[in-house]
Amino acid sequence: MPRIYLDHNATFPPFPEAVRAMQGWLEGFGNPSSVHWHGRRARAALEEARARVAALCGGRPAEIVLTSGATEANALALRGALDAAGGGDLVISAIEHPSVAATAEWLEGRGVGRTRVGVGREGRVDPAAVAAALGPRTVLVSVMLANHETGVVQPIREIAAAARRAGALVHTDAAQAAGRVPIDAEALGVDLLTLSAHKLGGPPGVGALWVRPGTPLAPLLHGGGQEAGRRAGTENLAGAVGFGAAARVAADLARDGAAVAALRDRLETGLCAAWPGAVVHGRGAARLPNTACLGFPGLDGEAAVMRLDLEGIAASLGSACASGSMRPSPVLLAMGAGEDLARASLRFSLGPRTTRAEIDRTVEVFERCVAPARAPAVMEGA
Ligand SMILES: Cc1ncc(COP(=O)(O)O)c(C=O)c1O
Repeated sequence: MPRIYLDHNATFPPFPEAVRAMQGWLEGFGNPSSVHWHGRRARAALEEARARVAALCGGRPAEIVLTSGATEANALALRGALDAAGGGDLVISAIEHPSVAATAEWLEGRGVGRTRVGVGREGRVDPAAVAAALGPRTVLVSVMLANHETGVVQPIREIAAAARRAGALVHTDAAQAAGRVPIDAEALGVDLLTLSAHKLGGPPGVGALWVRPGTPLAPLLHGGGQEAGRRAGTENLAGAVGFGAAARVAADLARDGAAVAALRDRLETGLCAAWPGAVVHGRGAARLPNTACLGFPGLDGEAAVMRLDLEGIAASLGSACASGSMRPSPVLLAMGAGEDLARASLRFSLGPRTTRAEIDRTVEVFERCVAPARAPAVMEGA
């Protein structure tokens, strides 16, 4: 059975360039901190990878802290900034990934003031609402660059400008935006920016935090002084090299999302025709070119994901982290979707190798295997 992978936001199939680059370092070895030949060779590979990751977000190599993924980078940004400031307040949005939302909650339990700014029906954070949430104790504002479920791109430049005027630092989680749209951390006006390798064609278990020079940030991990004292622990060399290779390919792909956006639109049109009353979450907002998140009133979302899987199509129910938990997506709830529609929503995330034939087959399978399950009341428009 041909397999159609439409879950690139969960994890992105590795680019051959990344796999090839890693292979040598799975067999080879060397501690980048060692002074001998093995160490120097490893250091050179690590620094080349760091430069490529920096180029992906418009930064300089020395501004990149390599981490075990976006989850750690987000934790470093939030906990590191609050710790360095000796406490204070934190402002996040209501649609952050759990790695930000749960870290903020954890910080709140330790005395940090936490404000969650809501979103409009299109899933967009209003910069004026962020500005209104800022206070004299606000240390950090954290709003993602693009949402993992809806693909809605947030007005980070405006949010960052408001936060900086109030003297607060700004963090953005760009794990989903990187490789989908061009990123320039400097131009966005943020102080901290998160990346994840496996969301853009690199291996899982590697990520990075871009840190604007001079940003006060306490480390999460203490020890050997790696990453300029910002993240101790012997570096994941093979992972970093794979990340660097993927970042190079991803930076090129991000410059032209038109083809994937056309396929995404074709998919949305086909699915909406198959299920009258279907809604495209965030349709009116600027979105990543690859992400389609649709609500199908009356659909059993879990059953639909399983039926598609039986036909070889990988889609998801909300985010990977939320699926399986049976809880409706907090992102869709924050957008006012309501519990029933949130549970009846599916996410399809495309990649550079997704073809028109795959999209047409997905629509055909949806029409044949999923749409007939529509409840009669819904079919009559009740
Ligand atoms: C927006 C966002 N941030 C952070 C993460 C966590 O990334 P990682 O798996 O690299 O820890 C994800 C993964 O789903 C994500 O979508």
